[in-house]
Amino acid sequence: MARILIGVSGGIAAYKAVELARQATLAGHAVRVTMTDAASRFVGAATFEGITGAPVLTDEFSRDPLRGTYPGEDLPVHDPISHLAVVDSADAYAVAPASANTIAKLAAGICDSFLTTSFLACVAPRIVAPAMNGRMWEDAATQANVATLRERGVTVLEPGEGQLASRGEHGVGRMPEPPQILAAIESAAAVRADLAGRRVLVTAGGTREAIDPVRFIGNRSSGRMGVALAEAAARRGADVTLVAANVGMGVDGAVDRIDVTSAAELEAAAVRAFEDCDVLLMAAAVADFRPAARREQKIVREGGEDLGLALEPTADVLAGLAGRRRDGQVLVGFAAEHGGDFVARARGKLERKGIDAIVVNDVSDATIGFESADNEITVVTREGEYGPERGSKPEIADAILDRVAALL
Ligand code: CTP
Repeated sequence: MARILIGVSGGIAAYKAVELARQATLAGHAVRVTMTDAASRFVGAATFEGITGAPVLTDEFSRDPLRGTYPGEDLPVHDPISHLAVVDSADAYAVAPASANTIAKLAAGICDSFLTTSFLACVAPRIVAPAMNGRMWEDAATQANVATLRERGVTVLEPGEGQLASRGEHGVGRMPEPPQILAAIESAAAVRADLAGRRVLVTAGGTREAIDPVRFIGNRSSGRMGVALAEAAARRGADVTLVAANVGMGVDGAVDRIDVTSAAELEAAAVRAFEDCDVLLMAAAVADFRPAARREQKIVREGGEDLGLALEPTADVLAGLAGRRRDGQVLVGFAAEHGGDFVARARGKLERKGIDAIVVNDVSDATIGFESADNEITVVTREGEYGPERGSKPEIADAILDRVAALL
């Protein structure tokens, strides 16, 4: 049984959302519905209320009689803010049908209705089932909005092809059928809890080794993969600590973030958090060498013609942690390899570092990795290889966590 919020926006397919609510309720889920004003021109709130046994949420400024709970639950004593409370305890939020207008608002983060406001506040898995005319679906604006949502980890289902609402038109834009939407909701909601009670330590970003007070040796890692892993693990119920090396972006969800700069700082923070963790996801690009001596003064051009920069090796943080592991901990490394038999090289690292899995990508492929939104990875474990898996970083993060959950 899951708590499911269904957001109904304006479109002829709103009548199919009634069937979705019915099927979800019959399957034993606790269902709440929020509708936009435009949706209520197509179907009535009374229909959803009869099916779900709960009032429909339409206005952010009205109190929810159920105080954010789902059918069958006890009411809290206090009266919370409705659009926050109803997503706080949701296991999944599905917007079906999602009109072109609503998709645009969700992509832009606009909050002008109960549906859009609660969508922005929702950290549970979010599913969007588009429904619109084929030309509206294919327009570059809609495609860009869909890509934005997917990049942020929202599951946007593919609309079906066939007869469209306007007479005589045929094309892509039909809302996916209710059983397909329900299956997507159920898999997203079930996934959510599989790391509940687990402590996950993630390292992300790229370390910087100071040469002098203004210069450093760094690398191109943006930290996006590690951040996506931290967010996905939190969504799936884990207690997450993120050691972030020079990560510019923010992190959504309940993640305990520790910012560090150098490999030595990253090592110290990781060692402190490692003892208590069940899973280590070592996604940071850690410098292998650092200047042997950091200059206290900024190096000047004059007299620096023959600037020999001596480097010394840093500690292998991951191998060091593997050396002090307890039973039951799962250690995952990450390797960006350049072409050739990159999977075999990654397997060599797995053996050398004494870890359970290594996630490898081929950085000779310019369309993936580093700053790009998409990635393609293979997970190498002691038992075998999984992938290649290609997708947005949030999708890849979930695929990696599926493997981790299996190893646990
Ligand atoms: N790693 C680490 N400490 C380092 C270097 C790397 O903990 N000083 C970790 C990375 O976070 C990653 C894994 O080791 O999870 C593999 O990183 P990679 O740089 O590919 O490994 P290296 O052993 O440094 O191999 P290479 O010589 O190919 O750089």
